[in-house]
Amino acid sequence: MNYFQIPKTNLKASRLALGCMRIADKSVDEVEKLVETALESGINFFDHADIYGGGQSEAIFGEVLKRHPEYRQKMIIQTKCGIVPGKRYDFSKEHILQSVQNSLDRLQTDYVDILLLHRPDALCDPQEVSEAFDELYESGKVKYFGVSNHTPLQVELLQKYSKYPIIINQLQLSIVHSVMIDSGLNMNMKEAGAQDKDGGVLDYCRLHDITIQPWSVVQASWAEGCFIDHPNYEKLNSVMEELAKEYHVTKSAIAIAWLLRHPACMQPIMGTTSPVHLQEMVQACDVHLTRQQWYDLYLASEKPLP
Ligand SMILES: NC(=O)c1ccc[n+]([C@@H]2O[C@H](COP(=O)([O-])OP(=O)(O)OC[C@H]3O[C@@H](n4cnc5c(N)ncnc54)[C@H](OP(=O)(O)O)[C@@H]3O)[C@@H](O)[C@H]2O)c1
Repeated sequence: MNYFQIPKTNLKASRLALGCMRIADKSVDEVEKLVETALESGINFFDHADIYGGGQSEAIFGEVLKRHPEYRQKMIIQTKCGIVPGKRYDFSKEHILQSVQNSLDRLQTDYVDILLLHRPDALCDPQEVSEAFDELYESGKVKYFGVSNHTPLQVELLQKYSKYPIIINQLQLSIVHSVMIDSGLNMNMKEAGAQDKDGGVLDYCRLHDITIQPWSVVQASWAEGCFIDHPNYEKLNSVMEELAKEYHVTKSAIAIAWLLRHPACMQPIMGTTSPVHLQEMVQACDVHLTRQQWYDLYLASEKPLP
């Protein structure tokens, strides 16, 4: 495993993180095994949200922490708030404070290392958010703050009022879903890929030392699911297969290596619930794709270059 210092923090984090969105229907024994495998592989970063499994993902993880109190100090735990599923987004001070307290209770811990605002709230009042951050920081419940799925200007607005740096922006990114890379490559062209759908978030985060955490790293889309071995992505799978053979790893490791190869020092969040799949993906840290291999994968996912 490789590690990096998350800019503007004293956190030394593993380059790969385990996402806990899908663990809700697993048993405590299964999650214990997954967490144990992650820690043994050198992963020290765990991503949660109040809404995963309706709170059940955090609750099961909390049961594992109860069995292994010694794990807590080895871990960087991140959670998110701000989505009320199917109803609204809610960045009100009251909601943020209550959500964090509920997460802490479920996780059976006194603090989370990082809190992210999950998805933009149209009614966001940055002054109110800043007051919530103050209270959470001063009470020791949250050490650092970040966002997910936020445009550069949304980050700027929050930052204008908050004295704590926004350190993370968690964003959807994979070889197949590469919107934030496509627009830069196709700048000033007529093709669909040229559309700037995120306000130049990739370059903004790099300019401001905000760590990008790619989510859904092996997902094509919600509808299609995982692109590994998916019949709609034959060409991509064939290039991944060739590279997997060359580097003696799996295709999933190649998909992660594609993200790690980007010089923005991103921290991919892996959502597998399988210890075997997790060990396979961790091998990505041993792969350094050449420039041509990186572009071969990009082209194999049927995205033209100008
Ligand atoms: N901020 C946001 O808005 C947002 C949104 C979604 C997710 N997230 C975060 O990102 C994390 C990852 O998202 P995700 O779960 O969609 O990501 P993912 O890692 O792309 O997908 C994991 C899914 O792919 C399956 N899969 C099939 N074949 C696989 C293989 N060979 N290797 C690995 N996995 C394989 C896994 O099944 P198995 O379990 O059987 O391996 C699992 O169901 C989440 O846990 C969450 O923490 C954030």
